[in-house]
Amino acid sequence: MQDLAGKVAVVTGAGSGIGEGIARAAAAAGMKVVIADIDISKAQTVAASLGEGAIACKVDVSSLASVEAMRDAALQRFGSVHLLCNNAGVWIGAMMHDADIKDWQYLINVNLYGVIHGVKAFLPLLVEQGEGHIVNTASMGGLISGPPEGLYTTTKFAVVGLSEALLMEVADKGVGVSVLCPGLVNTNLITQSFAVRPDEFNSGIDHQQPAPDVANGISPLNVGEQVMDAVLESSFYVITHDEYRDIVAMRHEGILDALDAHAKRYGSTSGRAL
Ligand SMILES: NC(=O)c1ccc[n+]([C@@H]2O[C@H](COP(=O)([O-])OP(=O)(O)OC[C@H]3O[C@@H](n4cnc5c(N)ncnc54)[C@H](O)[C@@H]3O)[C@@H](O)[C@H]2O)c1
Repeated sequence: MQDLAGKVAVVTGAGSGIGEGIARAAAAAGMKVVIADIDISKAQTVAASLGEGAIACKVDVSSLASVEAMRDAALQRFGSVHLLCNNAGVWIGAMMHDADIKDWQYLINVNLYGVIHGVKAFLPLLVEQGEGHIVNTASMGGLISGPPEGLYTTTKFAVVGLSEALLMEVADKGVGVSVLCPGLVNTNLITQSFAVRPDEFNSGIDHQQPAPDVANGISPLNVGEQVMDAVLESSFYVITHDEYRDIVAMRHEGILDALDAHAKRYGSTSGRAL
C-alpha cells in the first residue's frame, strides 16, 4: 500500500508486545487502528492511549466466529479495513517426547488457526476492494528450528508456508502479503501465554523448558516501524534481526546439498514422471 494515512488497520494481539508496537507505528502513520486482543483490559489501555482513532475489541483468534465478530465491529466503526496483522500468538517450550497433546492443540489453535481465521474472515473484503495488505506474524522460529521449540516452530513454519502461498495467490488482486519473522523481542510472551491459556488446554505443566530471554530482545515499537516500512514497500519477509544468518544459510544449504546428492545418485527427475 502506498499511502497509510486515514486507512484502517486491524491488529490482533495488540494489547501487548509486538502487536502493540505495530498498532502504535500504524497510528503514528495516521492509520485508524483496531486493537484486538483476548485480554480486553490490555487492549483498552492501548486504545485509550492512542485516542479517538483507535478502538479496543475483544477477540479470541482461535475461534472463527470471534474473529468474524471482531471484523464486523471494525467495519461498523470505521467502514473498511485495509491492513490486517494476524499477530496474536503464544509460546510453550516443551520437548516433543514429554509434551501433552493439549500443549500442541493450544499452540496450533492460536498460532496457526488464528492466522487462518484472520485470512478467512478478512481476505474476501480486501480482494473485493482491490486494495489491502496482510501481515502474518511468524518468527525466526518459522525459518529455523531446534529443541525445545519444536511445538512452537511447527506452528510458525506453517505460518511461513501459508504466507508464501497467499503471496502468490493474491499477487494480481491488489493485496500485499508480508510474513514477520523476528528474533527476540522484549514482550510479555512468556507470562501472557500462560495467563490467557484456556483451562481446557491446560496440560498442568508450565513451560517445561527454559524460556527464551525475551527481556534482552529489541523493542516492540522498533518491530512495528519495520512492519510499516514493509507494508509501504510491499516487502514479503520482514526480518528484524540479522544474527541468525549462518543458521538460516546452513538449513538452506542442507536442502540444496540433498537436491544435488539426489541428482548425482539417481539422475535428474526433470522431464520424467515421478
Ligand atoms: N517476543 C518474541 O521474542 C517473539 C519472537 C518471534 C515471534 N513472536 C511472535 O509475536 C507475536 C506476538 O507475541 P509477543 O511476543 O508480542 O507476546 P505478548 O504476549 O506480549 O503479546 C501477544 C498478545 O496476544 C494476545 N493473545 C494471546 N492469545 C490470544 C488469542 N487466542 N486471541 C487473541 N489474542 C490473544 C495476548 O493477550 C497478548 O496481548 C506472537 O505470534 C509470537 O509468537 C514473538
